[in-house]
Amino acid sequence: MKAPIRITVTGAAGQIGYSLLFRIANGDMLGDDQPIILQLLDLPQAQQVLRGVMMELEDCAFPLLQQVIISDDPKIAFKDAEIAMLVGARPRSKGMERKDLLEANGVIFSVQGRILNEVAARHVKVLVVGNPANTNALIAMKNAPDLDPRNFSAMMRLDHNRAIAQVAQHLFQPVRDVKRMIVWGNHSGTQYPDLNHAQIRGIPVRDLLPDQNWAENEFIPTVQKRGTMVIEARGLSSAASAANAAVAHMHDWVLGAHHNNWVTMSVPSDGSYDIPEGVIYGFPVRCNQGRYQIVQNLAISELGRRHMQDSYRELLEEREHVKHLL
Ligand code: NAI
Repeated sequence: MKAPIRITVTGAAGQIGYSLLFRIANGDMLGDDQPIILQLLDLPQAQQVLRGVMMELEDCAFPLLQQVIISDDPKIAFKDAEIAMLVGARPRSKGMERKDLLEANGVIFSVQGRILNEVAARHVKVLVVGNPANTNALIAMKNAPDLDPRNFSAMMRLDHNRAIAQVAQHLFQPVRDVKRMIVWGNHSGTQYPDLNHAQIRGIPVRDLLPDQNWAENEFIPTVQKRGTMVIEARGLSSAASAANAAVAHMHDWVLGAHHNNWVTMSVPSDGSYDIPEGVIYGFPVRCNQGRYQIVQNLAISELGRRHMQDSYRELLEEREHVKHLL
């Protein structure tokens, strides 16, 4: 029997938490032979709900779930964590401007970065889901100077999955056959869903499109606006699909992505594709044995380059608003 892995989930009493925890405890993320300990963090006013969630986790009698710890103290929740999923964030309230949201969440992620630095396992893998995810991940990373920056990531997997689903539906092909999708940039409206390298059973998706304008006129805006469409339909933001993406992101990072394929992760740039070093940016990555590598030397069109630089510039603006926290 393997030793249990401590997994911290913040915002665990929220709606993504409610979909995410049961998937993790079932073994969907780390495999069906990996025992786990869940360390759940939420605000003091959410502790009663969190107790209810803990009772439900217990009532599932998951064979892999060794222990559930709940707390409103990050020092307890992040203690010895090997995996940290930072979901909890302040939602945008009425009248709140984007810069106020950046500031409010920036404070949360600077504190959590410092505490990760202090008490988490040195090899902790961090996934930031709470928005604005890329900038929050940058703040957490900068506040954790003793941890390897490569252990910080932000979630673009939901955008990646949305892009795959759009192509599969449009071409009447099975989702599992759509490989090598990419969503570059920021997890925001400036992201650049790029199907130019995608393949279906080895055939370039571009060659299968009946109408070449579909990518620019429909695919890109649909993927960019999908989150807003879900909010309009549900009255709430994506939760089960976000949890599913978080499980997939961490699964592939820890256990490896499928052979001959890549996935999108927001990770600190190494200077690839003219994105300056250190910017947390959505890239295609190959994962192997707990490490990722940015896929190199892909040809990028002029239009693609413009989209990529627009998203980078937005990240620079976000960074400017929170520079006192870095
Ligand atoms: P929610 O509002 O249902 O839950 C958030 C939870 O976080 C609440 O229980 C709240 O009490 C908690 N929280 C707030 N501040 C905290 C702190 N300092 N420490 C610990 N817990 C804290 O929100 P939901 O729907 O679960 O979404 C969570 C975040 O994920 C939001 O920021 C949302 O925008 C983001 N998101 C990101 C996606 C992505 O693709 N990167 C996709 C969907 C959502």
